[in-house]
Amino acid sequence: MTVKQLQEEILTLKKQNDVIILAHYYQPIEIQEIADYIGDSLGLSRTSNEKTNTDYIIFAGVDFMAETASILNQDKHVLIPNYESCCPMAAFLTPEMVIDFKQKHPGLPVVVYVNSTAAVKAESDICCTSSNAVKITENISKEFNVKSVLFGPDANLADYTEQMSKIKTIKMPKSGHCYVHSQITVGDIEIGRERYPEAKLLVHPECVREVRDLADFVGSTAHMYNRVKDSSQDEKEFIIGTEQGLVERIAQDFQDKTFHLAKDKLICYNMKKHNLELIKYLLENLDDKTFEVKVPSEIAKRAIEPIEKMLKYS
Ligand code: 13P
Ligand code: SF4
Repeated sequence: MTVKQLQEEILTLKKQNDVIILAHYYQPIEIQEIADYIGDSLGLSRTSNEKTNTDYIIFAGVDFMAETASILNQDKHVLIPNYESCCPMAAFLTPEMVIDFKQKHPGLPVVVYVNSTAAVKAESDICCTSSNAVKITENISKEFNVKSVLFGPDANLADYTEQMSKIKTIKMPKSGHCYVHSQITVGDIEIGRERYPEAKLLVHPECVREVRDLADFVGSTAHMYNRVKDSSQDEKEFIIGTEQGLVERIAQDFQDKTFHLAKDKLICYNMKKHNLELIKYLLENLDDKTFEVKVPSEIAKRAIEPIEKMLKYS
């Protein structure tokens, strides 16, 4: 069966069932093409919170994204096409570590990046995404009347937030990072700048500081998408420092512009574990519990507060 045929079958099955498909920008392009909504982590959380009126949500993203949707929709069925699709960054921070940090820094709020387990979120005061980390940190530090926060698990996003907000971020832990973004080096940027001297460089805040400092724009995937959408006629070429799924999306949507990945093979293999066959299987077997994402209710009850607080503050 061709990709087109599979996509058509999925679209037909989708119409026959009470289901919505949400996809992150890093999903394979053929999945993005059949999704009802494509977005960044914040957009996906918001959509699952406000706009889903179906009983079933198929979530094409990594585990923490589907877990967040499930926490926000405890009366619905959230299904993940491949339950092995997880974000390795989340493993950098355990709930025990957060408790330990809190004991060592009493009175400081805990800001947890959504790229974390539900159990870690349950120990936090507020969640954030790469779209709103600066704003959330500013708001929560005002609320607690402090000039420092505990921040994890991404040390690069924490560093970016500190740079932008001037609020000290104590990294939980110092080494938390994304293997996709942290592989972009200053050398890669220098090569790109030399090859494409006219291009604007847009990078994700999960990149290391030395790379971010060379960029024309730093933002989440949705921010980068909007930066391209709002670019002037003269801005025809872009170097993109994030996962290649976003480049495939913007190349389709803005065909009068040219895009180059900041480095070859910037692929999040965890995001790419989903495929059309798995989505078709789910649509034909919506009640197969193997693929349902459920956070234990005692954790969900505690994790929902920092997620809802983030949505309120952003
Ligand atoms: P966004 O907040 O841009 O969706 O990023 C999520 C992510 O996992 C980045 O690697
Ligand atoms: Fe996690 Fe990095 Fe993949 Fe994003 S790109 S899901 S942070 S591993």
